[in-house]
Amino acid sequence: MFAGIAGRYDLLNHVLSLNIDKRWRRVVADKLRPILDREDAKILDVACGTGDLAIELNEGSRAAITGTDFCRPMLAIALDKSPAIPYVEADAMNLPFPDATYDAVTIAFGLRNLPNVTNGLAELHRILKPGGTLAVLEFSTPIVPGFGRLFNFYFSHILPRIGGAVSGSRGAYEYLPDSVSKFPNQRALAQMMSETRFSQVDFQNLTGGIAALHIGTKGSCP
Ligand SMILES: C[S@@+](CC[C@H](N)C(=O)[O-])C[C@H]1O[C@@H](n2cnc3c(N)ncnc32)[C@H](O)[C@@H]1O
Repeated sequence: MFAGIAGRYDLLNHVLSLNIDKRWRRVVADKLRPILDREDAKILDVACGTGDLAIELNEGSRAAITGTDFCRPMLAIALDKSPAIPYVEADAMNLPFPDATYDAVTIAFGLRNLPNVTNGLAELHRILKPGGTLAVLEFSTPIVPGFGRLFNFYFSHILPRIGGAVSGSRGAYEYLPDSVSKFPNQRALAQMMSETRFSQVDFQNLTGGIAALHIGTKGSCP
């Protein structure tokens, strides 16, 4: 599915979100700034797609950023946009990195797509160093009732038509609202992260809860 929409993915992201997706990725980079400023830090962007978050993290960063995704056409576009960033083709459920490799791991609009969210979180936990940070940017549940209804109408009825017409894959843009509706809300995801042994779990709503940024820390005990 992702291979089929790779060529139009960036355009549709920016058009369908009125460019708000760029602001959301900037929030992730701002949050991780203390780690990005460290020359010795290693950061992995999982399910990196066409590389937009990896590129945002890399901007002005002293840390080493790597991107990974299992979809080769997505990675080809990422590499074309940012040849200086290393990209690794891999399944997020079984990453080819040793335990305790990264100071921070990010995943933007990727966790929802994994076949098992708990096992996916456990895999991200495994590759983080003790004390390392996980940042999950994902669609979430709007918190303002009237706005939520309006947004859900747009998301379920208008977005699939535009996305389908431009990408040629209506199914991919019907899958989007469907997968978001099945994904845990802000509090439930925070709870799942805590149950996957992340500590100091916290989240911030973005654009009235359309998206949320969850942050968790891998404790010092393995
Ligand atoms: C909605 S895109 C998000 C891309 C990018 N992170 C962004 O912010 O635009 C979801 C990405 O997750 C990737 N993905 C889904 N399941 C995956 C898995 N099991 N392993 C690795 N990548 C996966 C897809 O290939 C796709 O590139």
